[in-house]
Amino acid sequence: MAIVAGDTLIIEGTAGRRVINGSIRVNGSKNDAVQAIAAALLFRDGLALANLPDIDDVEKMLALLQDLGARIERRGRRAVIAVPKRLSRLNLDRAIAEKIRASILLTGPVLARYGSVTFPHPGGCVIGERPIDFFLDGFSQMGAKVKARRGSHMVVAPSRGLRGATIFFKNQSVTATETFLLAAVLARGRTSLKNCALEPEIENLGRFLRRSGARISGLGTPTVIINGRGLLTARRPYQVLSDRIEAGSFAILGALLAKKLQITHCRSQHLDALLNLLMELGVGIKSYRGTIIISAPRSGLGAVKIKTHEYPGFPTDLQAPLAVLLTQASGASTILETIFEGRLNYAKTLISMGAKIKIFDPHRLVITGPAPLYGRPVTSPDLRAGLAYILAGLVAKGRTVVHNVHYIDRGYERIDERLRALGLALKRF
Ligand code: EPU
Repeated sequence: MAIVAGDTLIIEGTAGRRVINGSIRVNGSKNDAVQAIAAALLFRDGLALANLPDIDDVEKMLALLQDLGARIERRGRRAVIAVPKRLSRLNLDRAIAEKIRASILLTGPVLARYGSVTFPHPGGCVIGERPIDFFLDGFSQMGAKVKARRGSHMVVAPSRGLRGATIFFKNQSVTATETFLLAAVLARGRTSLKNCALEPEIENLGRFLRRSGARISGLGTPTVIINGRGLLTARRPYQVLSDRIEAGSFAILGALLAKKLQITHCRSQHLDALLNLLMELGVGIKSYRGTIIISAPRSGLGAVKIKTHEYPGFPTDLQAPLAVLLTQASGASTILETIFEGRLNYAKTLISMGAKIKIFDPHRLVITGPAPLYGRPVTSPDLRAGLAYILAGLVAKGRTVVHNVHYIDRGYERIDERLRALGLALKRF
């Protein structure tokens, strides 16, 4: 394995002592930011973005857009994107697009505005098969021709542009809902998207497009209707939502290691599934005006059953971090992962650290606790499992070395510095 500078964390474990008594601030949402960057292509005079997190996936999305010919001015958490009348190319940079799943979000607006787009199969975290059939089928339904060309997909719109269509998604898909919401704004006529994902980021995008002149109804419901309108004009910057998955990850950290942890700049209403579950486990939760306060359970943690589900159900992105907490709960907890078939891969590593986990199949496992964890070298396989390994290292006895931290940097900004500020012992090499 090649060792990349800064790609390793060394964690001195707390052996389960509740050492945290402090406050942590939540940044802008990764998944909201990446779709907002793609949305810039719908705006005549470009788009300003605010509350952008400083993470790798955002950098890569901006780089993809710049490579297409957009001009980007970045100032801290803000960016201004200016999009030219003609792009310099209509094919997504293969090396970058293959690294992030979110690159697929650009296909809808590039195709709808400029008439054609060529892209490789989008990469990203290795958490399952991650097909793109909903995208290719949806573009065909809007009148486009889809061809396979030298390992890429080439999609060409009819000469008069994409036409509105009724598109039913077989599963609720976050990026497919977002991509077709964006494409439909520039299509001719009415598009009906059925069985849409309900994640708050989608509603945030839809509301912003509506305030900028798009005609969209049904936001926040499974059927969203868009009447094609042409290019939009933004009246104010796109305000990226607070990251509910980051807030949830910190809430789990608090449940594991805090006497008291105050999580600020977040929206507790986006975390009902997790916060209710933590209360069921016995964790103290209070929330008010953008802040969640986590306090240690009065007695030990109890076992729970969880099943991941599309929003507002329990998020698949918090499943691995929660599993670490469940290793410290008394009794047998069950996890059923329903969205991705590769998202229990972390379990073997937790077992090697001392966790008592029985894996039944790629979707089901049972964790029996409490079991002390012991530090050891581990390699992060994806973003959320990587965060889970940090949590495991922090609660363990002894030293844990986490390799492949670049996966964690994709979604959590300067995680080592922010956790160090809570008094935890992590160093990056
Ligand atoms: N699916 C298909 N065909 C498609 C598209 C999706 O069968 O063409 C299936 C998937 O295989 C999966 C289900 O639909 O079984 C739902 O996947 P979805 O499309 O919603 O996932 P995604 O849009 O690729 C987004 C987030 C993920 C998050 C999932 C689920 C972004 C950029 N990514 O992925 O975020 O896990 O929704 O909530 O929004 C993460 O942040 O760690 C992350 C992986």
